[in-house]
Amino acid sequence: MQILIKGARVLDPGSMDEKKDVLIDGEQIAAILDPSDALPSDSVPSGAMPEHTGDMQVIDAAGLVLVPGLMDIHVHLREPGHEYKETIASGLAAAAKGGFTAVCAMPNTMPVNDNAQVTTFILEKARLAKGAKVYPVGAVSKGSAGSNLAEIQDMQQAGIKAVTDDGLPVVNAQLMRRALEYCNGLSIPVFVHAEELSLVNSGAMNEGPAATFWGIKGIPNAAETVMVARDILLSQLTGAHVHFCHISCKESIAAIRSAKQQGIRVTCETAPHYFTLIDEDVKDYDTNFKMNPPLRSNEDREAVIQGLADGTIDAIASDHAPHSKEEKDLEFDQAAFGIVGLETSLPLSLQLVHGGALTLEELIRKMAKNPAQILGINNDIIPGNRADLTLIDLNQKTIIDPALFVSKSRNTPFAGMVVQGRAVCTMVDGKIVFNALTD
Ligand code: DOR
Ligand code: ZN
Ligand code: ZN
Repeated sequence: MQILIKGARVLDPGSMDEKKDVLIDGEQIAAILDPSDALPSDSVPSGAMPEHTGDMQVIDAAGLVLVPGLMDIHVHLREPGHEYKETIASGLAAAAKGGFTAVCAMPNTMPVNDNAQVTTFILEKARLAKGAKVYPVGAVSKGSAGSNLAEIQDMQQAGIKAVTDDGLPVVNAQLMRRALEYCNGLSIPVFVHAEELSLVNSGAMNEGPAATFWGIKGIPNAAETVMVARDILLSQLTGAHVHFCHISCKESIAAIRSAKQQGIRVTCETAPHYFTLIDEDVKDYDTNFKMNPPLRSNEDREAVIQGLADGTIDAIASDHAPHSKEEKDLEFDQAAFGIVGLETSLPLSLQLVHGGALTLEELIRKMAKNPAQILGINNDIIPGNRADLTLIDLNQKTIIDPALFVSKSRNTPFAGMVVQGRAVCTMVDGKIVFNALTD
């Protein structure tokens, strides 16, 4: 089976930004052709076109942008154990709809992904699902309990691409040092959920005037930055690659910027909610605005945008954290932390481009190229590479409507927001897994 994507602006950051036709043969990108070379679907291919055609599907992509498949490196798929929130199948369908060809699955499932059997289970379920690919992330410690290292090498052989105890910090610095040394030997990054629990002190939103107004206990920026600072030092000590998850505040960004300037091997991600919303948006105890780390001040939000623009923040990842209605429909301090993000991440991130904070090329670096690089994956749009591709319509306006989510959960603070731009077709290994062009 061949697919010809005709007339798209092909944007592969660092190597291509031109109108081209892209031919896909089976699971691979077969050729990138000048639009004039391209043949209609019923003609016999020759010259630059590969031999056999069989049946060819032609996608008219005029006016659309074709980019390397977007990758969301921070997703909670909830299976095994919490299938009422999300399954691997529902999460991967939501990812495909959001334009993602691959996601990293966080290990805080039940049981925790701390051994090769769980890793294999996740990959097997993903293979059966018709959506994005999964790159599982294993736990740092057994049960993410923070005492003993998990079976990291076994899990790597089974397919994990990184480790983390996300949802929880690795409290013990010595265990973190050992994990970094070990993972450095295996050439995989350690993803850090940077949180100093003693400073969180059962807070539920950002510490500041908004928390005082609503009478909710606050979480200071320092709860994040203290751990960022510790793990920068441990990266320096061990030479290991530390990747900081969901960076939310200005002090963390300054620390990471300075670490990078010193040549310390750190990368980081932020999530769309940290550059879109602030703590003052938390109103009437709406728990759809509750996540960890919390929405910060406007100054922090501006620092996040600056960090994205100057390259301090490498990636945008959603921290897709589905929860049931029952787990959210509680007192603010009792409700679960987390919001869904797979189906809103690209449209929200595109607002940075429309607003002039980032170029489209910079955004695609942060949503496709850098995530791939962090995991050691090559997703260049070149012949011979797997056809993991996303087609984006930059102009289409939509209203975010949780009722239309294919995710099993609806916990979003963005309901009703008007956004411009969305993914219209997602292709994984040459197969179309989401297509709004023919709907
Ligand atoms: O908001 C969050 N939700 N933050 C986390 O660190 C964990 C996540 C979850 O698993 O629900
Ligand atoms: Zn986390
Ligand atoms: Zn998370």
